[in-house]
Amino acid sequence: MDIVNTQGLGKRYGSTTVVDDLNLRIPEGCVYGFLGPNGSGKSTTMKMLLSLVTPSSGQISLFGRPLTRETRRDQLAQVGSLIEAPPGYGHLTGGENLRVVQRSLGLRADQIDRAVRTVRLQDQLDKKVRNYSLGMKQRLGIAMALAREPRLLVLDEPTNGLDPAGIEEIRELLRHLASHGVTVMVSSHLLGEIDRTADVLGILSGGRMIFQGSRSDLTSAATPDVLIDTVDPDRAGAVLREKLPARVDGHTVRVAGIDDRTTARVVEDLVGAGAGVYGVRRDEQSLEDVFMNLTSGGRL
Ligand SMILES: Nc1ncnc2c1ncn2[C@@H]1O[C@H](COP(=O)(O)OP(=O)(O)O)[C@@H](O)[C@H]1O
Ligand SMILES: [Mg+2]
Repeated sequence: MDIVNTQGLGKRYGSTTVVDDLNLRIPEGCVYGFLGPNGSGKSTTMKMLLSLVTPSSGQISLFGRPLTRETRRDQLAQVGSLIEAPPGYGHLTGGENLRVVQRSLGLRADQIDRAVRTVRLQDQLDKKVRNYSLGMKQRLGIAMALAREPRLLVLDEPTNGLDPAGIEEIRELLRHLASHGVTVMVSSHLLGEIDRTADVLGILSGGRMIFQGSRSDLTSAATPDVLIDTVDPDRAGAVLREKLPARVDGHTVRVAGIDDRTTARVVEDLVGAGAGVYGVRRDEQSLEDVFMNLTSGGRL
């Protein structure tokens, strides 16, 4: 069952469409990495899921039921969230902040304790939040979101501004939560911050979903360039450029977007033309390259 499912979800502000025809599918128990450059509509989408922003079009289902005015109170009680800046009063300690949350949500003390231990903040509770590092603030925010023992956790850029150690800590935490059955939706504008943590990726660009699937689906959907080493690159370039977009760099000809069969034909042509092929390989394309290509308007 999908924990989150949207159909044609959209948001317009005036005449500007900021989220367009979005079909989110977030399976139970996964970490869903919600990626896209700044301004692509991630926060707006998350706010619609949390009923903080009213959709202009489309439907949302949470936990297999449509989210309606009548049902959303019950459904949202099972969702923990951290949207934009971490919450908390700076002049209160971490512990005092958590007691505020405990009272306002009617939680038990052991629920707070468990959340605090999960984010490993138990030794910092007597410190005022204004003296917390950004990483500690994020962890406090996540503890607040976790205390109600949600089935779904929605985290908007929780790694933003953290140092590598802080980012790693959040990643481990998300994996830990997912392995305990919590479904996690986490956004980032930096692929590298969550790609290895996420089971499923959704990539937004300009308010539209340009990819949704597993990491391996993403890399296999993108065809890396073929690099052909030849002893006569000028001749090779001349032969290829008649048919394909090819670029010569030193002794290597780079050909974009061709499959294995086309590669075999290209090599035959080059050998036939006497260009002296001595190497053929696919360029290593990092997920980051794929992401950049996609989000700068490229298509799968
Ligand atoms: N309340 C609003 N009124 C008008 N435009 C908005 C509002 N909120 C967000 N936007 C615009 O919607 C687009 C998407 O914003 P946002 O969802 O915050 O993107 P992201 O979280 O991916 O950076 C941006 O161009 C932003 O300026
Ligand atoms: Mg945002």
